[in-house]
Formats: sequence, C-alpha cells, structure tokens
Amino acid sequence: RSLTTDYYEVSIREAQVEVLPGLKTTIMGYEGLFPGPTIKARAGRRAIVKHKNEMAHETVVHLHGGHTAPEYDGHPKDPIEPGETIDYKYENKQPATTLWYHDHTHMMEAEMVFRGLAGFYIIEDPAEASLGLPTGQYDVPLMLRDSRFDDNGQIVFEMDDFRYRTTLLVNGKPQPYFKVAPRKYRFRLLNGSNERYYTLSLSDGSPLVQIGSDGGLLAAPIPATSITFTPGERVDVVVDFSRYADGTQIVLNTFDHNTTTPVMRFDVTGSAVRDVSRVPTRLRPMRRLGAADVNRDIVFKLDRTTGGFVINGKSFDMDRVDETVKRGDTEIWTVSNPDTQPSVPHNIHLHGVHFQVLDRNGQPVEGHETGWKDTVAVPVGGQVRIKVRYQDYTGRYLFHCHLLDHSSMGMMAQLEVV
Ligand code: C2O
Ligand code: CU
Ligand code: CU
Repeated sequence: RSLTTDYYEVSIREAQVEVLPGLKTTIMGYEGLFPGPTIKARAGRRAIVKHKNEMAHETVVHLHGGHTAPEYDGHPKDPIEPGETIDYKYENKQPATTLWYHDHTHMMEAEMVFRGLAGFYIIEDPAEASLGLPTGQYDVPLMLRDSRFDDNGQIVFEMDDFRYRTTLLVNGKPQPYFKVAPRKYRFRLLNGSNERYYTLSLSDGSPLVQIGSDGGLLAAPIPATSITFTPGERVDVVVDFSRYADGTQIVLNTFDHNTTTPVMRFDVTGSAVRDVSRVPTRLRPMRRLGAADVNRDIVFKLDRTTGGFVINGKSFDMDRVDETVKRGDTEIWTVSNPDTQPSVPHNIHLHGVHFQVLDRNGQPVEGHETGWKDTVAVPVGGQVRIKVRYQDYTGRYLFHCHLLDHSSMGMMAQLEVV
C-alpha cells in the first residue's frame, strides 16, 4: 500500500432489504446495500476500488462524472463475470465534486440500476475547507429516485414504464423524514431516477442555495426557489434551517403534470446552535472554454418504425465508433430532440469529461447549469448547445441519453478521443 493510493473493496450481490415497512425487497446492491455505500476519495489521490461480482449475472461498474481512463470506465464490453473481480483505478485528477457509480451492463443498465446498483462517490479536497461550507454530519448526500413495487414489496421493472414508478425514494427510503438542527446543511442531490425529472422546492418557498453542479463548485452561490434536474445530474445546495426552530420543511417535487408530490421532510429540532459554516460569495473561478475548433450535430430520436431509440439515426453498437474527437480541441455540440409527437424528453451525458452549457433553445441557462456539467437536459422539440474539450485520456468513451431505459434501448453512442 502506497501513501498516495486509497483502497476500497465492494462485493456486488443480491440482498433482502426493508424498503417498504414490514416487507423484504430483493435488490442488487453494492455491499448488498440500497443504495450502495458512499465512497469518499481525495482530489489528486488515486483510488482503487476492487469490485467483486457475487451475483449470478454479469455487471460492470461505471463512475459517472469520473475523468477515468477508458479501460476503467465501465464500458459494457468489459463486464465483470459472475465470481470475477475487477480493480478499477480512479486517478481523481479533477476538482472535488459529487459523483456516483452505477451499473452499465450492455442493454441492461436501466434494469440493474433500477434494482439498486447505484451509490455515491464523493471527491473531497482539503483545500476547500477554507471556504467554510457545512462539513461532516452537516454535509449529506441525498439520492432521489422513483421505484415500482408489487404487493409483496418486490421491485417491478418493465422497460420504459415510468408512469408506474410512483414510489419516490430518498437514499432508498420512501418519503423519509430527516431530523436536522437549526443551522446550515449542505445537501448533495442526485437524480438517481431512470426517467423522472424533478423540480424541487421547499414547502414554505424559502431558498435552496445552489453551490455545485456535476463538475464541482459553481463560481458563486445561486439561490433559487426551485431547482430542476434530470436523471444523472447532481446539484449541491445549502439550506439554512436556523429560522425554522421546531418547524418542518417538506421537499416537494412539482415537475409532473401540475401535481405536487412530497419527496421528503426535514424536522428541525433542538435549540439554536453555534453555526460557524458559511456560504462565501465566491466559490471558485470558472474559466470559460475558448473559441471552438469543431462543431458537431447530435440528434436524439425515438425511431417510430422500429420503436428503438437512436442517435443520429443509429442504435448503439459497441463495435462502432460514431465520432472521432481530437484531444485538446474545443468543440460545440448542438444536441437536438425532435421528438414532439409524442413528446419524449431526453438528456445527454458524456463520459470522461465535463462541459459547459452555452444555451438551450437560444436562451442562456441558469443556476446549476452555469457550472461544469456532465449531463444536461435536451428539450422536447428543441436543442441544447454545449462546449466540450476532452483532455485527460485518449480512447473510447460513451455518450448517451441518461434516461436509462432509452440508453438500454439503443440511445447510446461512442466516440474515440485521438
Ligand atoms: Cu451515469 Cu454512461 O452513465
Ligand atoms: Cu457516466
Ligand atoms: Cu432519452
């Protein structure tokens, strides 16, 4: 063991867990947990995660948002067979941020993530401590997702049946409550749903202060009364409960069809505490990517003749390279979604890199979308433009819609960085 490497071991197995009160649900879980254990890594320090597949089914582990060498990126061509172990090497040469790891099995990622194969991977940087943000027990990752259960509490997965995934879970529990002290908390929100979008707000309308996005801290804090994020995206927020001694705050989702669904509840208890944490007015410099060398058009579409989901007319083929990108080039990608009849929402996720969002339907984006991103919504009947520069590794990386049922049905492609 060298001083500059951290080691982790994870066994991937089926397990019985209590998700719904009094019932045992069979899940696929990292360490048999739902969701998996949170792995904490350090910026600039290598981590080796030894994943042992103790299931009867193949799996492969992808670190979402990791600037990972292609051979450790969890490509579906590199499965961990039952009984096999693979060491994933993560250099963590990227800014501190909230990542997550999840299954990426060929055509199966939707089902296997839905059955539980997802967990947080947080890169921390001691240099960030001087900012004074809430830390320790006041820095809490929250994985939001939906699920569908039968009467016995078993998970029901049917491809693209998002209408029936009506049970909302936070860290694997249906609409939980969380006891908080009257002070500031940092919440690392992950949209871990396969297909559900969230527009989150607090029941009394008080602000969620966005401080981070997929790629780490924003330039400056951005307060919002509501935050929308799509599958795979992360938003770090600070919430100040000091004004609500002995009160309750409900986190609401208002995204769907004019309904308001409670996601979870915060119960503020205890007397005023000394809270030395703060949210500084500047978080970190945001360097804008320069002029573009290359322009690329990417079209996401439901192919109505085959029922498959395609990118630029093609369904995923792991032996085909769809785009070639020169390392170090700055590119503008125009990603569009012509699916209006019926309307099918998509987003785009790029492996191995973070990008900047230029605009959506010609309008500048706001809030967490002004930071570094690896996943962003592609509007129905419209387009989003992103600026991207691959610079860490050469080799093959996937990009896909992160509505995982869509990627599992073919809405995925790969590029080669040369
Ligand atoms: Cu989070 Cu290729 O995925
Ligand atoms: Cu990814
Ligand atoms: Cu999609």
